[in-house]
Parts: sequence; structure tokens; C-alpha cells
Amino acid sequence: MDTKLREAYSVDKFRASGHRIIDLLADHLQQGLSGNQHGALPWRSPESAMQEWTDFAQTSPDIGTFFQRVLAGSVCISDPRYMGHQVCLPAPDAMLAGLLVDYLNNGSGVYEMGMAGTAMEQFVIRQTAKLFAWNDAADGFLTSGGTLANLTALLAARSAKSSNNDWKNGTCKSLSVLVSDQAHYSVDRAARIMGWGEAGITRVPTGANFRMRVDLLPEIFRNSRSEGREIIAVVGCAGTTSTGSFDDLPGIAEFCAANNLWFHVDGAHGAAVAFSRRHRSLVDGIAMADSVTIDFHKMLMTPVLCSALLFRNGQDSFRTFQLEADYLFGEKQSPQADCAARYDLAKRTFECTKAMMSAKIYSLMAIHGLPLLEAQVDHLHNLANVFAKLIANRPGFQLAMQPQSNIVCFRYVANATNGWLMNSQGCHEDAISALTLKVRQALTQEGKHYIVQTKLRGQVWLRCVLTNPFTTSAEMESLLDAIQQLANKAMLADKQ
Ligand SMILES: Cc1ncc(COP(=O)(O)O)c(C=O)c1O
Repeated sequence: MDTKLREAYSVDKFRASGHRIIDLLADHLQQGLSGNQHGALPWRSPESAMQEWTDFAQTSPDIGTFFQRVLAGSVCISDPRYMGHQVCLPAPDAMLAGLLVDYLNNGSGVYEMGMAGTAMEQFVIRQTAKLFAWNDAADGFLTSGGTLANLTALLAARSAKSSNNDWKNGTCKSLSVLVSDQAHYSVDRAARIMGWGEAGITRVPTGANFRMRVDLLPEIFRNSRSEGREIIAVVGCAGTTSTGSFDDLPGIAEFCAANNLWFHVDGAHGAAVAFSRRHRSLVDGIAMADSVTIDFHKMLMTPVLCSALLFRNGQDSFRTFQLEADYLFGEKQSPQADCAARYDLAKRTFECTKAMMSAKIYSLMAIHGLPLLEAQVDHLHNLANVFAKLIANRPGFQLAMQPQSNIVCFRYVANATNGWLMNSQGCHEDAISALTLKVRQALTQEGKHYIVQTKLRGQVWLRCVLTNPFTTSAEMESLLDAIQQLANKAMLADKQ
């Protein structure tokens, strides 16, 4: 064997590097949690990052140096000043399960290659389905992200409700789904991927708190049909991406039942509340959904990617892909082999080689139990409320809405007292948006705090996702101080 090959697989080196690396990661985690990093976001321009990583490859680093360099150049989610995107700080046991998954490299597409992974996946699906108050008929699978889960759900919806056999004949009708104007772009993307074009999404306006105007559904449905579109489904948002708002799921369920439509809930962000007795009522009505997307890698302490697509009627989960792959699923064999083949997950998922992602969430459910996930959901919701209170009590700041989830949208409108951005008629919206963009950009380059921005009704707002349970009001206050300072500096610069 080539010496390079032998060296790459050296067990002794693996053991030594592994010990070193776990120490390194544990130290980094400790520093991150205590906020001792330089900041949550070590900003680099794309040009300098490309150059740095090209140059670094020339140095033939050892694995320890490589890890250190990647850690130093990456967003530190364990830093309590991280309040950026929806991904979570994974629980250490789930991170270690990720290492196990990569070590085993067993796929979970076909049962015989993924016995442990498939069984763990079934366990996770059953536990979650019970929280939706579904019975044993429910089923589902894990898949690589909420985007793919939403597309898979809509493929199942098409198979169940379209008047044409689209899988066989191709799409020849103008199909569409009803969805709120706040829905994640993956729903729009799914419709376009299925060949429905722009009209594949029929937007339902949102009202107070960015929730779908369910009262408008009948009229929009009628109009769409008279314009020649065949509506097959309604997608309800259980936690919109921008504001974490929950649609009126019972209202949508009733409308779907009355009109023979598929009811999909995009709960990628917020279906996690089903794990919390305190917050579960936000997804009242989910029991009537035909399918639900939920991301464990958002509020539920699991590393990316780990999403589930669940079906109230498990048979529906076989509707999506009606294809044969003989080398995978084979001919009829013995009764035992045929029974095992019923568990071949790739029959139902997009993935062919499917990562054993179940280990990441199963580890938490088995080692810590569901109360851990409940505690996390409760804690993050509480943090969002604490933050919202701080914002509401600060002169010059404005909340987009009282948070329903762990997402808080707000902005600095200067004020009432110095009148820079407000006049007697109210806000100068465009000036506030311009200022908000500047502040977010300055914060990013400063790198201490990491937050993002979103657009609500055409205006720019700051958006924080309280995803790190170690964030306290001290970091929230320091963020608001920083925003205020940066905004005042930007306004002064504009005046000069
Ligand atoms: C409501 C909603 N749906 C779907 C998605 C897509 O999920 P993923 O990033 O796991 O593909 C997101 C992600 O932000 C989301 O917030």
C-alpha cells in the first residue's frame, strides 16, 4: 500500500489527533460560552477569505492547526452575543453523535445498510408524531433540511390532489398552492421546481402580527380557480422565518377540509413548540395537517442538517416518488428481505445516499429525554420575551411585534426626542430603513454581536434569533447600546 494511504488511515494518529481535537473544541466552547472570544463574527471580506484559505492550504497544516484556523475564522455560535440565524448551538452529545455518523458513514437509504439509523429514525418520527396528537397511522422520515422537506411535502400533495397524474404525464395543468406572503422562499422554490412557475404560489396577505388572513382564503380560492389555476394545497406557517409568527392552523385546516385541499404545515422553525407544554397551543390545529415539516437543527439543539417530514396518514409518505431503483430496492425475495425492504427510506426521500442524521436527535431523546428539548424551547421563548421588554422600554427603539417565538424584530427609529427620523406624521420609513441597513452593516464589521436583518412590508428591520441559551440580558443590553451608538454615529455623519 502507498505510504500516503497508510498514513492517512493511521489508527494511532487518529487516536492522538482525536484527543487533541476534543480538548481544543472543549476549550473553544468554554471560551465561547463565557463570551471571551473577540466576538461572535470574525468578519472577513470574501476576497481576503479566499486568499487566506488558498494560502493556508500551501502550508500543509497538521489537523490541530487546521482546526484552530477554522475555529478562528468562523462564526462562534456558542458566544452569547450570537443572535443571528435560526441554527442552534448544538448540545455536545449531539455534536459527538455527528462524529459517530461521519465515522460510520452508513447510509440510511436502504435498510440493510442503515439498520441502526433507520430504527432510530422511526423512534424520532414516532415521538414527534405523538406530540402532534397523531395516532399510529402517522409516519415520516428525516431529510436534509426544511427546504427539501417542503418540496417533498408538496410533491406528495400534488400526487394526492392533482387531477392529472403529473408524475407519469408531466405537469400540464396550472397548479398552485395558497400560502401567506410571509412564507419561506422554499415554498415558492418548490412550486417553480415542479414546473408551476410564478403562478404556482398564490399569496394570501397577512394581517396583524404577520399571520395569514384566513378570512380571505375563500375569495382568493374562488378567484384563482376562475383564472384557471387548480389549487391543490394550503401551506400554513408555524413560525414564519422573519418574525416567528404562527398562522391560524385550525382555520386553515377547516378551509382545507371543506375544499378537499392538502394541508401542509411548514413548521421548520416553530413546530418545535410541540415539545413544550407551555407553548404547544401555538400549533393547535397541527393534528389536522396532512404533512408537517420540522427542523431539529433550529430550536432543538441538533447540528445541521436534521429535518423531518411527517404525514398524518403514513401511506401518504409513499406517494411522492413512484419510481423503481432495482439495484437498491430489488426484486421480490424472501419474506424477511421483503419485510426489511419496506423500511428502505430512500423510497420516500429525495436522498439516495442518506446521512444517518437520526443519531444526532436520537442521542438527545435517548440520553436526556424529551424534557431537555422542552426546557430549551421554554428557555428560548422566555429569552425573546425578556429581549422584547428591554426593547420596549428603551426610548428610540421600536418592536415589530410582540414575539410569538424566539425571533425578535425591531429597529432604532431615533426618536421622539431629537426628531431626526420622526416627524409629526410618524416615521420617515425610508430614512429608517437606510439607517437600519447601515447599523447592521457596521455591527457585522465590528463583529462583537451577530444579528441579521429582514424586510417587513417593504421596510428593513433588525432581526435577532435567540438561539443560544447562554445569552442573558447583559448581552441584549450591550447589543442595544451598540446599535444606539452606531445609529447616532451614522446620523451625525449624514448630517455633516
Ligand atoms: C419557516 C421555514 N421554512 C423552511 C426553512 C428552510 O429550512 P432549511 O434551512 O432547513 O432548509 C426555513 C429556514 O430558515 C424556515 O424558517
